[in-house]
Amino acid sequence: MKIAVIGTGYVGLVSGTCFSEFGHEVTCVDKDPKKIEALNNDIMPIYEPGLDTLVSKNRTGGRLHFTTDLKDAMRGAEAVFIAVGTPSRRGDGHADLQYVFAAVDEAADYIDSYTVVVTKSTVPVGTGARIRERLAAKLDESLFDVASNPEFLREGAAIEDFMRPNRVVCGADSDRAQEVLRELYRPLYLNETPVLFTSRETAEVIKYAANAFLATKISFINEMADLCEKVGADVQQVARGIGLDSRIGSKFLHAGPGYGGSCFPKDTRALVSTADEHQVPMRIVRSVVEVNEERKRAMADKIIRACGGAVDGKKIAILGLTFKPNTDDMRESPSLDIIPALQKAGASIAAHDPKGMEEAAEMFENITLSEDPYDIMADADALVILTEWNQFRALDMARVKSLLKTPTLVDLRNIYANADMTGFTYVGVGRAPE
Ligand code: UDX
Repeated sequence: MKIAVIGTGYVGLVSGTCFSEFGHEVTCVDKDPKKIEALNNDIMPIYEPGLDTLVSKNRTGGRLHFTTDLKDAMRGAEAVFIAVGTPSRRGDGHADLQYVFAAVDEAADYIDSYTVVVTKSTVPVGTGARIRERLAAKLDESLFDVASNPEFLREGAAIEDFMRPNRVVCGADSDRAQEVLRELYRPLYLNETPVLFTSRETAEVIKYAANAFLATKISFINEMADLCEKVGADVQQVARGIGLDSRIGSKFLHAGPGYGGSCFPKDTRALVSTADEHQVPMRIVRSVVEVNEERKRAMADKIIRACGGAVDGKKIAILGLTFKPNTDDMRESPSLDIIPALQKAGASIAAHDPKGMEEAAEMFENITLSEDPYDIMADADALVILTEWNQFRALDMARVKSLLKTPTLVDLRNIYANADMTGFTYVGVGRAPE
């Protein structure tokens, strides 16, 4: 099947590439000529494990094309995926749909035979209906259908998530559109992936409900961690103790510095904003957002307490800047709140991240970045682990201790055990009374 994907950001690039791996003929379109030129030379705009190999393989195999020419991409395409950004609108947290509508309007000019216009971008419920109206103003209704096919890709594991998903959700009202989507995902039927066909509105809500529920688990366990610290309980054991109940499940119960990334913060805010528009209180998700925002700020205070109550004139070494491992993405990373707060309190910061330093260099002021994780520790008053990269899980602790001025380790991801930290002032999350 021939398809076009508009937007070669994270979602568009991964989805387009994986569809071509399924055997479909895919053309990815982007307005940015530099990005397209780079992709045509197998240079990736983002770091995602395995993506470069898959792009190169399918591009040279003739199934994956990159262009700035939408007309060319749309020729003969049976489906066009809208995968442009939907950032939080400044002020009200609502998803900004200007790029989605611009892409739809442009695509409409090149639809001359039946095409399914599919939203992959996360869009508030009702957007599919608005897209339908826009298209109907320009085109005969027999020429198109509008469907919603949300993605559930985790950065760092996106290829795996696309190729072996827990489920695929297709929101489409007509049989014809459902047939196109069924054909696109046919390779997944072989491994019995559940493919859910729903109305467009239901699919749109599923996407937000999934992200909001996962974010809720995280804020929930983070609040439990706070309680554990006060009463001398261990949040990791609490998470295990509740997670083994299959009604609860053990995933997404890791306490930490708060969730970040391109989805959870933006989508939870957008969901609250959609609910407001429909006069639905959505109290739980609202609290999840508040708990997370406060948590990022509270983490700086936790580090300051571990340093004896003040960091003025002290040097803090930070391992991990990205919002999670295996990505170079800094969007809404807890480091963006924690580091400036420490600097404001008078600390100087030296940091290392395996993939995020290029972006970080643009986002932080007065920060020393080093390619070597041990370099940053020399004469530091404390070492803080902000992101659980595998590289940080087996540090040479004797070397760390000899480098630090004071052997204080604040482990905001709980990757070390209290018992292994003899000789250190060790502070984890939700594990010991401070
Ligand atoms: C998320 C969803 O998982 C994915 O389905 C959706 O399509 C996009 O948003 P992603 O943002 O890539 O994916 O990362 P994810 O692994 O879900 O982690 C999000 C944030 O939650 C990270 O900051 C992570 O550190 C944090 N997190 C996750 C926790 O603090 N504790 C956990 O137990 C799990």
